[in-house]
Amino acid sequence: MNDLTFDKIGLDELNALAERSSSVIERLRDRVYAPNAEKQLEISFNVRSAAEMVKRSEKLIRDAEADGRLPEPRKDEVSGRRTGYSLAEINNMRDLFGTRPARAASDNPVVLAVQNFKGGVGKSTVTCHLAQFLALKGYRVCVVDCDSQASTTSMFGLNPDVDVDEDEDTLYPFFRHGGPQTLHYALRATYWPGIALIPANLGLYDAEYEFAARMVRDSTFVLDRLRDGIESIKDNFDVILLDPPPALGMISLSVLRAANALLIPAPPNNIDFGSTAHFLKMMTATLNELSEVGGARDYSFVKILVTKMNDNKSAHIAIKRMMDAVFPSDMMQAVLKDSAEIDNAAANLQTVYEISGPATRTETHKRCRMYLDQVGREVEILIRKTWPSHHADLRKEGIL
Ligand SMILES: Nc1ncnc2c1ncn2[C@@H]1O[C@H](COP(=O)(O)OP(=O)(O)OP(=O)(O)O)[C@@H](O)[C@H]1O
Ligand SMILES: [Mg+2]
Repeated sequence: MNDLTFDKIGLDELNALAERSSSVIERLRDRVYAPNAEKQLEISFNVRSAAEMVKRSEKLIRDAEADGRLPEPRKDEVSGRRTGYSLAEINNMRDLFGTRPARAASDNPVVLAVQNFKGGVGKSTVTCHLAQFLALKGYRVCVVDCDSQASTTSMFGLNPDVDVDEDEDTLYPFFRHGGPQTLHYALRATYWPGIALIPANLGLYDAEYEFAARMVRDSTFVLDRLRDGIESIKDNFDVILLDPPPALGMISLSVLRAANALLIPAPPNNIDFGSTAHFLKMMTATLNELSEVGGARDYSFVKILVTKMNDNKSAHIAIKRMMDAVFPSDMMQAVLKDSAEIDNAAANLQTVYEISGPATRTETHKRCRMYLDQVGREVEILIRKTWPSHHADLRKEGIL
């Protein structure tokens, strides 16, 4: 007989393990957030950046400050030097000069799902950075965290276990029988001007069971509930981003039905690409089946975004090349490369767009921002192409 004996791990040990891991999360959060402090956006812009963002000259901005149409620029109390403009102040300038890039009332808001059934491909990373890229441009953005893991909720400064009540704050009440009529109750402002969030927490997972049980009797309610909810709030926004869970569950299906555009993040390695191909197959089969139940759904655009690409790995380059050959018109030109900056920011529950201070002057930061901006700009164009009121400008810009 083998004299190696193993203690069995029972429920008590598992409970202890879960509790210890919660305390690790709490410690991490304590390190990131001061007690009871709300997350703040600390980035600021000098007048040159402001002029670029507002699309008006520095002189026009200064004139408006001099004649009182804009508030006087803030100054540091000690040094007397200008402290720079906040994003809220930039948006205020855009409103004064009429240079917000928003859609016209007659254009449909874009409901973009960043979806792939595979876990860890960068869905939440892309969702958060895209939301902030668009907010920096002055769009009105709503981020809907549809994943009970709540990564996006955490990135937006909320502790899902403490700051979010599953019976009141997430999609869950809306998904329940006899729940609220609209999703307005769940919308909350974030510390990012122009971004509203519908947060998630673990309780949202119960919706999977309830939806599955209800599917037999009332499939249309289940499949189109999220879509109806998005309909109820969409007029307030230019873009609504949906961050689904990594599984082919009822919530993921609802996300596919609620979206009118899809972005599919896919790392260029065999395993992830295999899953992405599988995702595309399952998605098409499922959408075909669903179209028989509740009508067909079509998308303004469906694009595959290569994520976590490492140029030093020949396998990545080979698979990316193959993807370009197989889907010539479905791939995004921009690639979100693998970057330590994204991981470093995420370790502090931050995005690359909200890092401020000396870290923003490093080469790694600048390079990573460049990748993110390229993705953001390309998605922005795809979005604007869906808005007829933007077509004349897109033609002037040489894009249409
Ligand atoms: N381009 C990148 N460079 C470096 N790290 C990245 C990049 N994109 C994502 N990551 C890291 O990979 C991990 C998984 O990313 P993310 O949470 O965005 O994936 P996901 O698809 O939303 O995962 P899930 O399926 O669990 O919801 C995170 O730690 C994130 O910081
Ligand atoms: Mg995620």
